[in-house]
Amino acid sequence: MGRSYKYISVDVDGFVALVELRRHQAHNALNLELMEELVAELERLDVDDDVRCTVLTGSTRAFAAGADISEMVDATAVEMKLRNQFRCWDRIRWLRKPLIAAVNGYALGGGCELAMACDIIVAGENAKFGQPEVNLGIMPGAGGTQRLVRAVGKARALEILLTGEPITAEEALQFGLINRVVPSELCVQEALRIAQVISSKAPLAVQLIKESVGKAYDSTLQDGMEYERNCFYLLCGSQDKTEGMRAFMEKRQPFFQGR
Ligand code: CAA
Repeated sequence: MGRSYKYISVDVDGFVALVELRRHQAHNALNLELMEELVAELERLDVDDDVRCTVLTGSTRAFAAGADISEMVDATAVEMKLRNQFRCWDRIRWLRKPLIAAVNGYALGGGCELAMACDIIVAGENAKFGQPEVNLGIMPGAGGTQRLVRAVGKARALEILLTGEPITAEEALQFGLINRVVPSELCVQEALRIAQVISSKAPLAVQLIKESVGKAYDSTLQDGMEYERNCFYLLCGSQDKTEGMRAFMEKRQPFFQGR
């Protein structure tokens, strides 16, 4: 993949893409340009038939230390509103393919929100998650108050948001914020392993499972169940369903093509 960016790098191996944030000197602070590059690339990968799952990671010291404070320090409320920086973040929500965060070091503020916008979070033992916006006299703006409360419940979310103190990877695991903790040097490897497993499954089924789980966030149980059922019937019309079930009956591995 010959694409070159200023703040990210992209590597594709098999059906799995690895996107790395590369603003290491600023602990991967998410400035506007980095976010534009990142989201544009994630959207490009989302429509690439040769990619089925993406892993997003940072450096060994920081996944991302939040939105870039230097871009906000002198901005007025009106400038911030006109800048509309969260437009970019909203686009992550509409990605169809699974996105796995491999988090080492700091995932603070927008960095924690970026990890939470992913579908699965693998953390290294040294990871620290937090929403320190309150220390800066602001609050999260990229979904932090909403996603955190859904992930860890009201009491824990409020403690994290109101004290601004980070939690460790072990605490994040115990609270249900992340999927697993591994030795830091194995973090990306473990995320890639999960991505490889997912990318061996039927792509349409993966996409509709992700969509249906997303529905559980913003619909009633009844609406979500109906959505799920319609997705289920849709998959019953796919070639991959015939292939997957025949392969089972014939005791062989399926060959999925995403149609
Ligand atoms: N924005 C801009 N620059 C940042 C940054 C950020 N969020 N985080 C770190 N940096 C920069 C530092 O200014 C420093 O730059 P210089 O070398 O030019 O001085 C460099 O990265 C290294 O940082 P430190 O010297 O502070 O490194 P440290 O190891 O002592 O501390 C840290 C690391 C605890 C992550 C600390 O940098 C820190 O607290 N960063 C800010 C975290 C934060 O408040 N994030 C929330 C931002 S607001 C937000 O995200 C809003 C939203 O909802 C989208």
